Amino acid sequence: MKLLVINGPNLNMLGIREPDIYGRQTYQDLVSYVNQICAQKGIACEVFQSNHEGDIVDKIQAAYGNTDGIVINPAAYTHTSVAILDALKAVCIPAVEVHLSDVNARESFRHISYAGMACEKTYAGFGFEGYKMAIEYLEGKNNL
Ligand code: DQA
Repeated sequence: MKLLVINGPNLNMLGIREPDIYGRQTYQDLVSYVNQICAQKGIACEVFQSNHEGDIVDKIQAAYGNTDGIVINPAAYTHTSVAILDALKAVCIPAVEVHLSDVNARESFRHISYAGMACEKTYAGFGFEGYKMAIEYLEGKNNL
């Protein structure tokens, strides 16, 4: 099984940005966490981060035909990007949305998720653990 984990803008600043909301663990800690979970499960996984919407669209398109599942935290693009929504719909790869924080308990502009409309599940407010939940959901589907 092959997974693609995509992280959007400013997630590379984890550990520095708003630690009261996102915690003190760094982006590298997140990458190690995800890689460790996938390694334990024998899942091949690529973890990608970009601050650029078009690069994220390109990455989703490049996954077509070679990836079994996408875990995506589009960060701020969650709430603005029809392009990411359309890319996820175009490739038809099972996708799960993750947010470190509980977006529905924050400002109202964070309550809309375009990317989420193309995702089978959303895990928000579980910190790093949300990525594990998303991986396990996709792993479960793949084993059906
Ligand atoms: C986020 C929530 C978004 O609203 C925000 O713009 C982010 C991170 C999260 O993981 O909680 O950058 O996706």
